[in-house]
Amino acid sequence: MATNKKFKILFVTSELAPFVKTGGVADVSSALPQKLLELGHQVRIVLPKYGAIDERRFKIHEVVRLKDLKTEVNGEEIEFSMRSSFLVGKRARVQIYFLDNKHYFSGRHSVYTDPRTGEYYPDNDERFILLAKSVFKLIDKLGWVPDIIHCNDWQTALVPVYLKTIYKDNELLKNIKTVFTIHNLGYQGIFPKSSFAKTELPKKLNSEKGAIHKKKFNFMKIALKFADVITTVSETYAKDICTKEFGEGLESVICERKKDLVGILNGIDSRVWNPEKDKFIPKKYSIKSLKDKELNKIALAEKFGFEANGDTPVIGIISRLSAGKGFDLIKKAFKKMMKLNAKFVLLGTGEMKYLEFFEEAMVKYKNNFSCYLGFDEQLAHLIEAGSDMFLMPSKYEPCGLNQMYSLAYGTIPIVRRTGGLQDTVRDYSEGKNGNGFVFDEYDVDAMLKDIERAIELFTTDKKAWKKLMTAGMKSDHTWLNSAKKYINLYSKIS
Ligand code: GLC
Repeated sequence: MATNKKFKILFVTSELAPFVKTGGVADVSSALPQKLLELGHQVRIVLPKYGAIDERRFKIHEVVRLKDLKTEVNGEEIEFSMRSSFLVGKRARVQIYFLDNKHYFSGRHSVYTDPRTGEYYPDNDERFILLAKSVFKLIDKLGWVPDIIHCNDWQTALVPVYLKTIYKDNELLKNIKTVFTIHNLGYQGIFPKSSFAKTELPKKLNSEKGAIHKKKFNFMKIALKFADVITTVSETYAKDICTKEFGEGLESVICERKKDLVGILNGIDSRVWNPEKDKFIPKKYSIKSLKDKELNKIALAEKFGFEANGDTPVIGIISRLSAGKGFDLIKKAFKKMMKLNAKFVLLGTGEMKYLEFFEEAMVKYKNNFSCYLGFDEQLAHLIEAGSDMFLMPSKYEPCGLNQMYSLAYGTIPIVRRTGGLQDTVRDYSEGKNGNGFVFDEYDVDAMLKDIERAIELFTTDKKAWKKLMTAGMKSDHTWLNSAKKYINLYSKIS
């Protein structure tokens, strides 16, 4: 159904590229609003001003009427301001409002975890109660009333419930509709039951029927109950999360909302992730100049201190280091992986046990494996451009962006058949439809077999390999189609 209505959309998120990023939600939060603006809608973004965001570089400035705002969190009056800057795309300039409060956000460098302990900040509940509340103060002060508030992941999950309870009779706010997008059900924002008292929500929600789930206060659950519509980032994951296997304990809550749940596959930002235009890589290339990709392989090898060689593939991994992304498989298979005719490079950060494992592995297997355990956007581009293959053996995957970046860069993805990976990568055995290697079982041997299959083809059949590369590079994962699906959804609810 096509719609011509132009919407006012307030996009609330806890990460936004290039300002702050720990995962794919930052890329989506940047690309989707820009596309919506390009399509003629009014879009503004709300994001916390973490200490890690460089205010000079991004020209973040005060807005006089958005200074000295006040709200209550945990029974205390909190002062904050909304400062502003822009997300500058080629054709679109999306206005951003940064929630600035020194105690909760700008005084802390790290986004979610305390660098001294490696644990989540114990007051993350208060921090993201404040984020939700700040949204309503912002609208009130601006007098710019959105048709839709588009919320993302648990950090923004209280917006719908505030709207449907404490603001339900507010003349200014009562007609606003909410979309809640699940980027990852594995992170729900679970806190002790006592967190409820910090929210100012009506007491009747302090129960298993309301905000409490399995005796804990659960942010994600509240959004699942109160958002007008729920989306997730691929069609297969939308089906997956209604089952016990993938529902992360919330499957019954999700099932109740099944008719309001939609899967919309993420796109990729083709201005940022495009080998023909990529300003981070030493040599740009296209389908017509595939040879130039090899220069990136040489640069990548140099960076990681090994020699590039046409007969030995480089296999890249860029990921959050967590079990969900398949790292328990990689850890178990590692010894065998190191015996294969391949070089592995890894970029990522995450759980301590994996950081320790890879630090050791880098010394032990220095001829076959190298890694950078941190976050580095430029290096991510070099790995996508310089690798021959990309490994993504996720246990579950809401959408996954790196496999789509890999396809665009002619870097063959090796993935497990799940969620968004299933929706974007097709196995080599499917003939001319194939664009990668896909295994079914979440199992060490299945993964190893698939990696071996890829290496075998790479080393023995250059022609078939090139076909796979071009199939991927031709696939269209730009945001236009997906943005249109969101617009249709907005028009259904408002
Ligand atoms: C999360 C998911 C990933 C998805 C991204 C953006 O990081 O784990 O699969 O691509 O969000 O939606």
